Amino acid sequence: MLITCSFALASDNSPLQDFCVADPNGPVLVNGFPCKDAKLVQANDFFLSGLHLMGNTSNAVGSRVTPVTVAQLPGLNTLGISMARIDFAPWGINPPHTHPRATEILTVIEGSIQVGRSRSLSEEYWICNAIAIVGLSSQNPGVITIANAVFGAKPDIPSDLLAKAFQVDVKVVDQIQSKF
Ligand SMILES: *[C@@H]1O[C@H](CO)[C@@H](O)[C@H](O)[C@H]1NC(C)=O
Repeated sequence: MLITCSFALASDNSPLQDFCVADPNGPVLVNGFPCKDAKLVQANDFFLSGLHLMGNTSNAVGSRVTPVTVAQLPGLNTLGISMARIDFAPWGINPPHTHPRATEILTVIEGSIQVGRSRSLSEEYWICNAIAIVGLSSQNPGVITIANAVFGAKPDIPSDLLAKAFQVDVKVVDQIQSKF
């Protein structure tokens, strides 16, 4: 008898220093950013404002993610955590996506949402009219939005290949690719 079991876990290593403010221009490429000289660290490296502001949901998917990762808040570097505010227009969606370096928890602050998860892709998507706050177990969680990755790849994935993979006409693939 063969029993298989699959699940996905992702997180950053535990921090080795009390803080390591990101130096985004540092020459060393590591999982995260090299540390800014501790003598140059300022309180502002740990401060970000604006999460109280509603995101602009006037776009094709009807949602807006306002991220707070190491890219927006350098003090998060190596701390293994980040967050985001998500605003949804009525029936807005957050398209199917994965976070390659993080697991995630979501709290609905206002409204209601429907969440779907695909086990095989470890992916999630939400359909809603709401404001939500999410926490992620990485300072740099990354996001791979399936539709963009497949149909908006640069360079393009050849449309005849996608047509066979998705079992549709090449014209359908061309039409979808033109939107990304
Ligand atoms: C929201 O985004 C739309 C589309 O990009 C833009 O036309 C509009 O001016 C934006 N609204 C605000 C309040 O920034």
